[in-house]
Amino acid sequence: MFDKALKFSLEKIKKNTVEFSDGFLSDESSGYIYKKNTECTSWTEGFWPGMLWLAYEITNDGVFKNTAKGLDKILQKRIFSRQAIDTHDLGFLYTLSCVAEYKICGDKDARRAAIEAADRLVLRFHEKGQFIQAWGRLDEKENYRLIIDCLMNLPLLFWASEETGDMKYADIAKRHFYTAIDCVVREDYTTHHTFYFDSETGEKVKGVTRQGYSDNSCWARGQAWGIYGIALAYKYLRDDKLLELYNHITDCFIERLPEDYVPYWDMVFTSGGEPRDTSAAAIAACGIMEMNKYFENKKYMEFALKMMQSLEDNYLTDESSNGILTDGMYSKPDGSEPECNVWGDYFFLEALIRLIKPDWKMYW
Ligand code: GLY
Repeated sequence: MFDKALKFSLEKIKKNTVEFSDGFLSDESSGYIYKKNTECTSWTEGFWPGMLWLAYEITNDGVFKNTAKGLDKILQKRIFSRQAIDTHDLGFLYTLSCVAEYKICGDKDARRAAIEAADRLVLRFHEKGQFIQAWGRLDEKENYRLIIDCLMNLPLLFWASEETGDMKYADIAKRHFYTAIDCVVREDYTTHHTFYFDSETGEKVKGVTRQGYSDNSCWARGQAWGIYGIALAYKYLRDDKLLELYNHITDCFIERLPEDYVPYWDMVFTSGGEPRDTSAAAIAACGIMEMNKYFENKKYMEFALKMMQSLEDNYLTDESSNGILTDGMYSKPDGSEPECNVWGDYFFLEALIRLIKPDWKMYW
């Protein structure tokens, strides 16, 4: 099962080790071609080394390991030189690069950089609002908000507590998590993308979208971050009350899937000609497979497999592209077009490794 997708993905990644050994894949492709990103100032630079670590674990081919190690060094430099770190995305950046390297190779420099990233991330926690601020400087009122994506940044903190024995990281992750699910999940279990608080009082203000269709709609990737984020929080918190929430959020996602099981970019659309977001399908599939370890659910697993099958059958790129999945949607309100998204390619490969190696130990 999924042999074609796996072989195809590994071949693309292997080819890319030549051009992208000293730089990262751009956030998204342009005309289905990734460009080389040598700046290392975005939120996405963890995904390319993450893909390389996955490829290394699947094949044992040292080219993947050596390329990933070189790129992780660039990320190590970034955190210690404090370059472009005013962001909650330190979890995405360092979990899939340095934490992965430490877990696989035991590299001490990689561990040091990942702990440093966790130290910087806890500084973004607001006591008043009880949340980790997503973007920008901490004194900017217009940035006094959290975003659902941040659920994926919390495993870095849980890991840092496990590694150091210092519970401050896990405590902040836990407090942010409960604030986030309280704010972003609506009564019907669709989700807000971002949520504002009053910077004077810390009181809840309102949910607002940034990359979705409207403030009242349900951005597909946000809902997928919710599915996977809750599954990951369950791994660390073992709070059985989360199961009901997870079930509702997952039901909401699968009920809004169109015929080919790959969501439109916003779940306000369930049919018609709007663009899809393949990355949301890959993220949701990983989340469902993670939660299935703790609470088996045949129906959800069937949907995860159907999403993966559709991605393999309908959404692999052709020869001319250096990416893996077509029809990722970065940000429709910002004018993005369907393209390869570096995180979509990462989560597709992560879902594949989960299927072929059920005992795979995740980096999150
Ligand atoms: N975390 C940013 C995004 O999902 O586009």
